[in-house]
Amino acid sequence: MTITPESRVGEIAAHHPLATRVFARHGIDFCCGGGVPLAEASAKKGLDAVALVAEIERELAASPATAKRWLDAPLPELVEHIVVRFHRPLREELPRLGIMAEKVARVHAERDPEGRLPRIVSTLEELTAELLDHMAREEEELFPALLAAAEGRELGRFLDDHTEAGAALAKLRELADDYRLPDGACNTWRALWAGLEALETTMHEHVHLENNVLFPRAAAAAA
Ligand SMILES: [Fe+2]
Ligand SMILES: [Fe+2]
Repeated sequence: MTITPESRVGEIAAHHPLATRVFARHGIDFCCGGGVPLAEASAKKGLDAVALVAEIERELAASPATAKRWLDAPLPELVEHIVVRFHRPLREELPRLGIMAEKVARVHAERDPEGRLPRIVSTLEELTAELLDHMAREEEELFPALLAAAEGRELGRFLDDHTEAGAALAKLRELADDYRLPDGACNTWRALWAGLEALETTMHEHVHLENNVLFPRAAAAAA
């Protein structure tokens, strides 16, 4: 596809996976909020859409076509990739981050006058509970139904979960001061910030594959 300021962000990400590097660089949401044209998304960030198109084109030209084209892969392969690459690691990573967050909040309360750390703990707790339930429902109900080319009646509910998870990740980033570390932060605090930021990156990739590739492809296959 040719990229123009009118192209939708999610579509660009689906057709050109490496474009997501540029979106990540500028904090442009290409998964949950990927339904808007590039012009609108860049205006929101105070960026010039034409310059952004050029930056995406440079990124694509500089990188060999190594990113797998999930638009063409068989659907069972795409589903398997989502489960192995994103769901399974999340089941390990979320409890690990929860333990670290609790520890930092407990030990460093004196360095947290605004009480952000306990809010990080509770936001992360809610996100963890929601995601564990959401992934179980995807694996047990939605994905088998999609693969059976069922109608995908339930899609709306899953899309709403994604939007909520995106909001929780944005809230975590805000509470964590854009993952800037306070002076002299301990190793657990460092690991927590690094882990939360990595969680955000992989969740964006994960939700992007579901919202912009898997769901539209399954809907098209069922039509
Ligand atoms: Fe998922
Ligand atoms: Fe999902």
